[in-house]
Amino acid sequence: MGSEFQETGGPRHVAIIMDGNGRWAQARNRPRLFGHHAGARRVREIVEACPENGVKYLTIFAFSTENWKRTQIEVAGLMSLFRRYIFKEMQEFVRRNVRVRFIGDRVKLDQKLCSLMDEAEELTSHCTGTNLTVALNYGSRDEVARATKRLARDVADGKLRPEDVNEETLPKYLDTRVLPDPDLVIRTSGEARISNFLLWQSAYAEYEFVETLWPDFSAEEFHRLLVSFGSRDRRFGGIKA
Ligand code: IPE
Ligand code: IPE
Ligand code: MG
Repeated sequence: MGSEFQETGGPRHVAIIMDGNGRWAQARNRPRLFGHHAGARRVREIVEACPENGVKYLTIFAFSTENWKRTQIEVAGLMSLFRRYIFKEMQEFVRRNVRVRFIGDRVKLDQKLCSLMDEAEELTSHCTGTNLTVALNYGSRDEVARATKRLARDVADGKLRPEDVNEETLPKYLDTRVLPDPDLVIRTSGEARISNFLLWQSAYAEYEFVETLWPDFSAEEFHRLLVSFGSRDRRFGGIKA
């Protein structure tokens, strides 16, 4: 995957909080779900832009553990959109060599959706291009709580000693265990907050908060943000080399 960006220090893992679908629809006097559909159509363009930009991992926030607070109509509409989206895009991901994974708690998701998620993961498991991770019913605090539960079980079963719990062993219990940490986190729609997304993993990520509403976010804007990442001085607590 030779790329000018990898060589010039572009981000290997980009995570995106795709926000602003509701406001985009409201501005057009349309229901919020209209915005979610427009937002879903944007995903393909950004996934397709990854290889030429040297982005090997793309993680997108699709539904948070807090989003259940929305109206039943919006939640049901989103779940149906996820089902249709996965069903429709699966073959396209294979064609584009995109490996799909899901993070988040599946317990509250319906069986049909879970089966489609399994199918997409299975079907793309041999793909070696972009690693697309979709965060669905994901919340960092929930993830850490679930991870801690599994870790505690391993300690109780004698598989892990308490003194071996450290910064290397703990992330092995997170949903993101096979992924590198994000280098860059982008949030659209002008909100400058994290909303419970990849808290542990983004401890040293760079952040970009852009005004664009997600359905208007283009491959050109994505490219500009990646270029600007290359000029940042990441120190990780050290001093400038
Ligand atoms: C992001 O758009 C998509 C989800 C959270 C599912 P929003 O629906 O949050 O859009 P705004 O923030 O209300 O504009
Ligand atoms: C974050 O957006 C979750 C997703 C993009 C899926 P929200 O719109 O739910 O976040 P808040 O409520 O504005 O913090
Ligand atoms: Mg929002």
